[in-house]
Amino acid sequence: MKILVTGGAGYIGSHTCVELLNEGYEVVIADNLYNSSEKAVGRIEEITGKKVVFYNKDIRDAEAMNEIFSSEKPECVIHFAGLKAVGESVQKPLEYYENNINGTLVMLDAMRKNGCKNIIFSSSATVYGDPAFVPITEECPKGKITNPYGRTKSMLEEILTDLNISDPEWNVILLRYFNPIGAHKSGLIGEDPKGIPNNLLPYVAQVAIGKLKCLGVFGNDYDTPDGTGVRDYIHVVDLAKGHVKAINKIKENPGVKIYNLGTGNGYSVLQIVEAYSKACGHAVPYEIKPRRAGDIATCYADSSLAKKELGWEAQYGIDEMCEDSWRWQSMNPNGYND
Ligand code: NAD
Ligand code: WQD
Repeated sequence: MKILVTGGAGYIGSHTCVELLNEGYEVVIADNLYNSSEKAVGRIEEITGKKVVFYNKDIRDAEAMNEIFSSEKPECVIHFAGLKAVGESVQKPLEYYENNINGTLVMLDAMRKNGCKNIIFSSSATVYGDPAFVPITEECPKGKITNPYGRTKSMLEEILTDLNISDPEWNVILLRYFNPIGAHKSGLIGEDPKGIPNNLLPYVAQVAIGKLKCLGVFGNDYDTPDGTGVRDYIHVVDLAKGHVKAINKIKENPGVKIYNLGTGNGYSVLQIVEAYSKACGHAVPYEIKPRRAGDIATCYADSSLAKKELGWEAQYGIDEMCEDSWRWQSMNPNGYND
């Protein structure tokens, strides 16, 4: 079975391509390399010993998308391509709506024209806003989203659901990721943010390697055990494997399905600092800063539906996530730019 992976050169996409190839799927990547490197494609091939077909194309390019679907004839799309920086999306809403929404519409049109009606979409726990309850089940109502990035995810969920209503031949799996971290065991692929990282783990990793001086901990007065924010960090390889399971599901023509992909465990910022310090062998310096606008206190998943219906469950714990992140960071101090 052939899978088109949009955004397949990126962080989660590259790990997913490895797991797909390991399970015997044929993989085609479409990525405009806006936030990634073609080197990641070579590394995917190095890890798996298998070839991927790579198109350096933008999903907003209708002609290119048509050409890819008509020549490759994928049976399913895993759709990662998009912009994802929360803060930037507040500054550049038009760019985010244009890339994420318009890009997806262009790609969906090419899928429809070429009779490919199976899609697995990268959604996010961000659609729950400040969650009505934790652990968060898929029944938890969507909440007030504080930024355009999150709104693109929520809107795309609706758009994909409308497609299935219009034509039940469409199968749509919406995967709501919690906080993906870590890297492949080989140390060959991992997260390579451009500029100063926004997310906790890449920031901690760059402090640990000495590229940044000190971590700012955004608030220690939340209603959590140690006052710092609590999140459900999930190993990116576990997340990648969730996509392979979702393909098995989509083969059953399930219509629209939604699954949370998390571990069910919440860790605080200070617990992450401690685990990372252990992994890298020295203390990671930090100082307490004011809260970051838009942050919530606590967010973690109930992923029992994914376990029940996909047969998927996260395997890795926080220590391994930090060890694998550190291996990638120390083997590639400048990411793919070495
Ligand atoms: P990433 O930036 O590493 O990967 C996204 C990829 O899409 C990049 O390789 C980028 O070059 C590509 N891309 C962007 N716009 C494109 C376009 N118009 N045409 C073709 N390619 C394009 O990000 P990631 O962390 O791997 O995230 C993958 C997906 O998962 C995104 O949709 C993101 O919103 C979603 N997600 C990520 C997280 C997270 O914390 N990393 C959490 C929830 C959901
Ligand atoms: C985690 C915790 C921060 C950085 C974001 C998006 C979400 C999803 C995943 C895509 C929080 C604290 C962080 C730092 C800190 N992405 N922190 N110092 O905010 O849970 O989720 O990424 O869909 O949509 O919002 O992740 O890694 O930014 O923060 O203290 O320098 O670490 O306050 O408690 P977040 P994060």
